[in-house]
Amino acid sequence: MRRNPWFETVAEAQRRAKKRLPKSVYSALLAGTEAGLTYRDNTAAFAELGFAPHIGGLFAQRELATTVMGQSISFPVLISPTGVQAVHPDGEVAVARAAAARGIAMGLSSFASKPIEEVTAANTQVFFQMYWNGTRDDIVRRMNRARTAGATGLILTLDWSFSHGRDWGSPAIPQSMDLKTMVRFAPEVLTRPAYLMKYVKAGYVPDLTVPNLAAPGQPAPTFFGAYGDWMQTPPATWDDVSWMREQWGGPFMLKGVIRCDDAKAAVDAGVSAISVSNHGGNNLDGTPAAIRALPGIVAEVGDQIEVVLDGGVRRGTDVVKALALGARAVMVGRPYLWGLAANGQAGVENVLDILRAGVDSALLGLGKSSVHDLTPDDVIVPPGFARRLGG
Ligand SMILES: Cc1cc2nc3c(=O)[nH]c(=O)nc-3n(C[C@H](O)[C@H](O)[C@H](O)COP(=O)(O)O)c2cc1C
Repeated sequence: MRRNPWFETVAEAQRRAKKRLPKSVYSALLAGTEAGLTYRDNTAAFAELGFAPHIGGLFAQRELATTVMGQSISFPVLISPTGVQAVHPDGEVAVARAAAARGIAMGLSSFASKPIEEVTAANTQVFFQMYWNGTRDDIVRRMNRARTAGATGLILTLDWSFSHGRDWGSPAIPQSMDLKTMVRFAPEVLTRPAYLMKYVKAGYVPDLTVPNLAAPGQPAPTFFGAYGDWMQTPPATWDDVSWMREQWGGPFMLKGVIRCDDAKAAVDAGVSAISVSNHGGNNLDGTPAAIRALPGIVAEVGDQIEVVLDGGVRRGTDVVKALALGARAVMVGRPYLWGLAANGQAGVENVLDILRAGVDSALLGLGKSSVHDLTPDDVIVPPGFARRLGG
């Protein structure tokens, strides 16, 4: 008997992803770094926050829609950009279709497996995500390509410190997919026949290239080739951020802010939005959970720019906790990747439906008619929870 492909929680999507993906693909997607302190704190911190629900004066209809970077979205969740390869043959195009079907915007990583033109054809609300890698000319060229493809916003991610060790071991990721590599990875892939069949049906093997970083007239570089270029690029200055924001000229998010002084510098650089984020616990281990840094940053810059949060959101109640502490919306990473692995586009839609229903149910319980009415009063914040970093 075929199992019902529908799942009821993000935790179940994760279990199915673990069962279906080859071990190295699953662990690349779990990621984390060093001891995994930040990775764990991202979810643990949400569990420390409580609710004090009402039972009278509740609202039969709740408003979930909002806007982020000028885009109307049907509920306050966005797809966070992930440069993850080989999860599903339709990759980011399936994610874009799912996001469009549920009325939300999507961040597309410059390290993604699908060209931006295919992704914007599936969803008109795409924010292209870039790192500071290559020359200024390369960066302008990539921004122009994104603009021509119809990207409606740009995300610059700056929190990456090239730390690659994990106490639980890092997955073996091949440089490229040739016959020799396929033979080497065959044992773990053959134990995942459903995964293999999807690629057989699609008629190709994941080639681990990054088409959005291709130079004009050149083939797409390999993931590791592009990563190596990035490692050689001196880190961005605040002047570089201002320059890039001016070159783009449209809605611009700086992703990876965890300190108040950086949030203020982002405002000075003219950004439209920031994401309070620690890269899902994949950057500098020991950085506190994003949700702990949120209240301080909102107090500092929340009246000047849009403040979004990402990291550790697994439920609609987590979304509501972040909104109550001042976020305009949240972004999710692993949850939709697990949904994609579990059931393709329908799996991503399933994850979004879980989050949406959870937001709605929390609003009902808290006696709120709109996501815009949430305040810090709606959550129980234990003493010492928040971390105000950098001023
Ligand atoms: C496997 C993986 C790949 C990622 N790749 C990128 C990327 O290319 N660009 C980026 O800005 N963030 C990237 N991120 C970070 C996510 O955008 C986001 O900040 C993080 O996943 C949020 O935490 P969550 O997974 O707990 O929702 C990646 C995260 C994961 C797990």
